[in-house]
Amino acid sequence: MSSTLSKLVSLLATAVSHATLNPAVTGMLLWILTIGPAKIRNRLVNTVSALRNPQTLARVTKILKGLLALGLTRSINKTLNELALNGYRINNEKRRWKWNEEIAVVTGGCSGIGLLVVKRLVLKGVKVAILDIQQLPPALQGYAGIQFFSCDIADPSAVASTADKVRATLGLPTILVNNAGITEPHPILDTSPEYLRKIFDVNVLSHWYTAQAFLPDMIQKNKGHVVTVASLGSFVTVAGMVDYTATKQASFSLHEGLAVEARLKHKASNILFTSVHPIWVRTPLINPLKVTLEAAGSKFLEPAEVANAIAEQILKCSGGQLILPASLGWLTWIRGLPNWLQERVRGKFATTVLASIVKREREARTAESQTNTRSHGATNPRANSCAYAIEEAQQCTDIYSAQLVQTLDPTQRYVVSAGRNATKELKGFNVGLSDRKTLAYVSLKTSSS
Ligand SMILES: NC(=O)c1ccc[n+]([C@@H]2O[C@H](COP(=O)([O-])OP(=O)(O)OC[C@H]3O[C@@H](n4cnc5c(N)ncnc54)[C@H](O)[C@@H]3O)[C@@H](O)[C@H]2O)c1
Repeated sequence: MSSTLSKLVSLLATAVSHATLNPAVTGMLLWILTIGPAKIRNRLVNTVSALRNPQTLARVTKILKGLLALGLTRSINKTLNELALNGYRINNEKRRWKWNEEIAVVTGGCSGIGLLVVKRLVLKGVKVAILDIQQLPPALQGYAGIQFFSCDIADPSAVASTADKVRATLGLPTILVNNAGITEPHPILDTSPEYLRKIFDVNVLSHWYTAQAFLPDMIQKNKGHVVTVASLGSFVTVAGMVDYTATKQASFSLHEGLAVEARLKHKASNILFTSVHPIWVRTPLINPLKVTLEAAGSKFLEPAEVANAIAEQILKCSGGQLILPASLGWLTWIRGLPNWLQERVRGKFATTVLASIVKREREARTAESQTNTRSHGATNPRANSCAYAIEEAQQCTDIYSAQLVQTLDPTQRYVVSAGRNATKELKGFNVGLSDRKTLAYVSLKTSSS
């Protein structure tokens, strides 16, 4: 199906689901078909001739009652969720926010999502302090409302002293966007202790430091908005980037706990809390994954879509939870799903990430073998071995258990258990699918072949 057609189908499906679960629509139809004025009912029955049959009419009425009940439940649930995520506040906080007097702190504001959040806030008149380890990019230079602070948020003393500088130069911040983050796909067994500490420092512990630095002033004023840029990984563990998803689950947990402590411990129930959970976003952060994700047709968001959603939530003056895109909201229920379904969801996310790791490893090996060739003036001795062919087959996206099944002939042709993608991925080897389609044969490209 072409992407335009699939977009149309999905749009149509969304419209139908919105209409069928909209209590206003189903309630109105039910009213017309049961107790509404006979004149309108007759006009509807005359238009839809099937309704003239009393049995069909009874069945349609029953379905409408079911849809109305479902729609009402969904609407009540949505309203209660919004209320809870906004600290059970019914009154809007807008009157207490004057944008040209507000000060925002945005960590990681020099790139990707953070950069665009900064732009949106500054254009609204908010003064923004950017805390980043990168230099201020040209796109943010020349704005009077932006103040750049070089600060490694993984360092608690750097965060504390930068917070002092922000207060001294700009004033007391009322908006905190915990946005900076790092990731680098790799399997758990290849994670170095240094990287593990770094990713937890940047993606999680820094949120403790910024909260300790900026929350006390917000508590005193009983005013503020804390935004945690988490990820859909807060809900779904993704193999191949488990350290990252673990940090996103941890930072989400901190976010939830902070909101409750602000309300119950500090009696500062007017501080707003928003967590943000995007799927893949086209930013430098996911450069190592981009090619494989695109090849697999993964869903991507543009950084502006995420930044706009964050800015709008801040400007709306209400707390919330932003699942981006909203159509993936069902992923928040994942732990309530049956385990077999959970495993399938986790497997689906993992496949592409693991494939990208495999691709990078293969590229690294190729680069290494080219270096060897150049430095020794000879080909990598392993490149002409059966073991190497099988190792390569094991690296294919859909094979994790390639092994020698059978030697076909003395010209170094081997059958490995493999899948269809092997034919696409095993460049440099003669590869084809066997009759059974689940096996691929790998024959080494020798100088004579
Ligand atoms: N890009 C995605 O696919 C995606 C998806 C879901 C969530 N997110 C989250 O969005 C947030 C923003 O990421 P992005 O995609 O815009 O990435 P990005 O790489 O474009 O921006 C990250 C910024 O954080 C800064 N940073 C990194 N380490 C820092 C440190 N120690 N101290 C201060 N600043 C530091 C970087 O210099 C950079 O400016 C991250 O928390 C990320 O986890 C991104």
